[in-house]
Amino acid sequence: MSRPRLQIVRPELGGPFPEHIAIIMDGNGRWAKGRGMMRVFGHKEGIGSVREITTECARMGVKSLTLYAFSVENWKRPRQEVGYLMELLEQFLVDERPTLMDNDVRLRAIGRIDDLPEAALARLRETERLTANNEGMLLRLALSYGARAEIADALKRFARDVAAGTVRESEIDDETLRRYLYDSTTPDPDLLIRTSGELRVSNFLLWQISYSELYVAKECWPEFRRPQLLAALEDYARRVRKFGGLVVDAPVPGEAKA
Ligand code: IPE
Ligand code: IPE
Ligand code: MG
Repeated sequence: MSRPRLQIVRPELGGPFPEHIAIIMDGNGRWAKGRGMMRVFGHKEGIGSVREITTECARMGVKSLTLYAFSVENWKRPRQEVGYLMELLEQFLVDERPTLMDNDVRLRAIGRIDDLPEAALARLRETERLTANNEGMLLRLALSYGARAEIADALKRFARDVAAGTVRESEIDDETLRRYLYDSTTPDPDLLIRTSGELRVSNFLLWQISYSELYVAKECWPEFRRPQLLAALEDYARRVRKFGGLVVDAPVPGEAKA
């Protein structure tokens, strides 16, 4: 939903708590290189972070977690690295099933899923099916995902509906457009985290992050674990969200507290 929602306050964190967290899991290659290892070891180690952050978010009551796992642009990488990432994905989708079930997590993918190799796609569909009735956190994996591709795909489907007469051009507004995106039912991210210190969004959820709070962690993804997540949540708890409006009691930057 684009309109402001009531925020959940967590006294232990000192303020509001994000219902939906999106993460750009970056820096696997640099993590490995810094340790004299090949890039693929960084991807492998990153799986440990995916497991720890997913479990921790589910335990803390986050409603949705969206992880940027592979972008449409990532297909440009060397064939060997792409092949390794696809194998890792396939393995992850099988190995993580007990963890997802134990933590009541529902898995769903967003992106140009049909681009995935057949074996990975089959494992994905099986894991989605297996976890479909879990009622805890929704884990969305962004796979072969690009925000511009998502908007292009949405416009294609919209144009088809206009041609078929099921929707009129005059009906298009923010919420109509949302219905054509990959997942129209999950509210926008409250918090967008990027690891490894990069200050860009790299074609991730461009439409949905209009009012998300941004947080950049200096750690590479394989070293982004529970303490780093808590630091992000504590930072978020101090944010004041205004959605273009005004908050009467908002602190004035630089003004000393009484
Ligand atoms: C993120 O780590 C994982 C994917 C994009 C698949 P990178 O592979 O981008 O690692 P760096 O940014 O090159 O260090
Ligand atoms: C973004 O990271 C994509 C994922 C984390 C899956 P990249 O490493 O691909 O982004 P750039 O190339 O640094 O912008
Ligand atoms: Mg990167």
